Amino acid sequence: MDIKNKIAIVTGGASGLGADTVRALAAKGAKVAVLDLNLDLAKTIANEVGGLAVKVDVADGESVEAALATVKAELGTARIVMNVAGIGIGRKITNKKGPHPLDSFLRVVNVNLTGTFDVCRLASTDMIALDTLNEDGERGVFVNVASIFGYDGPVGNTAYAASKAGVIGMTLPMARDLAPYGIRVMTICPGVFDTPLAKAETGEEGFNRLIANVPFPKRGGNPKEFAKLACHIVENTMMNGECIRIDAGMRMGLMI
Ligand SMILES: NC(=O)c1ccc[n+]([C@@H]2O[C@H](COP(=O)([O-])OP(=O)(O)OC[C@H]3O[C@@H](n4cnc5c(N)ncnc54)[C@H](O)[C@@H]3O)[C@@H](O)[C@H]2O)c1
Repeated sequence: MDIKNKIAIVTGGASGLGADTVRALAAKGAKVAVLDLNLDLAKTIANEVGGLAVKVDVADGESVEAALATVKAELGTARIVMNVAGIGIGRKITNKKGPHPLDSFLRVVNVNLTGTFDVCRLASTDMIALDTLNEDGERGVFVNVASIFGYDGPVGNTAYAASKAGVIGMTLPMARDLAPYGIRVMTICPGVFDTPLAKAETGEEGFNRLIANVPFPKRGGNPKEFAKLACHIVENTMMNGECIRIDAGMRMGLMI
């Protein structure tokens, strides 16, 4: 799909991987809605690209419905939807302090997995009513974000790994559900990228330890490299129902 003049939604678009994806989509001519819990940062990014900032908590069904309704009213129905919003938590299933709190497990799953599902189910319902764009009968595309931790999660990451494995697992069935409407679903599984979330989770020292496990190039990914892949997925109609690792060959070991 040609990105020019399309309406795009990026959840988590106020920071890190999402913010550079907003910039990349806008540079290719999309009208972009930046949906984020952090409205101030969302406004900064949206103003930079002439987009729309909308506050959302993707874990809250009413908030998601309201945010998508605002985008539809202000810009129109999105053909490009990127679910980038996500949170992490570092906690073992149990330790001397006691079991992993259930509420923090549920929060991570609600944001990363249920939030992604919710945006997909509502946005696709609007998308299927749009006209087709080309001879393939294409209508739109979803790009969801999981993590390499969804395949090989290190110690202390059960909640995060479970949430991201869920995003990986729903990619193919969702692509199959939406195929009759010409809507594609892809998932990106980043390795280690240099963003506020990555550094908040690991600290500078942990981040450097992670980088030591990266074969080549031996560094954290630049969010612009993630954004390039996200745009390529939109532009390449043959990409559907698949999860792509972007990790410089990294495989997680036991520890971070
Ligand atoms: N940075 C990495 O190394 C890395 C690796 C693998 C996967 N990821 C995934 O990539 C995505 C983006 O991560 P990032 O590193 O850019 O993080 P980030 O913290 O820089 O950005 C995440 C954004 O999501 C927003 N957000 C958080 N909870 C939200 C909610 N409930 N509703 C709406 N918005 C919410 C935050 O406000 C923030 O703007 C996440 O899903 C993360 O799990 C990141």
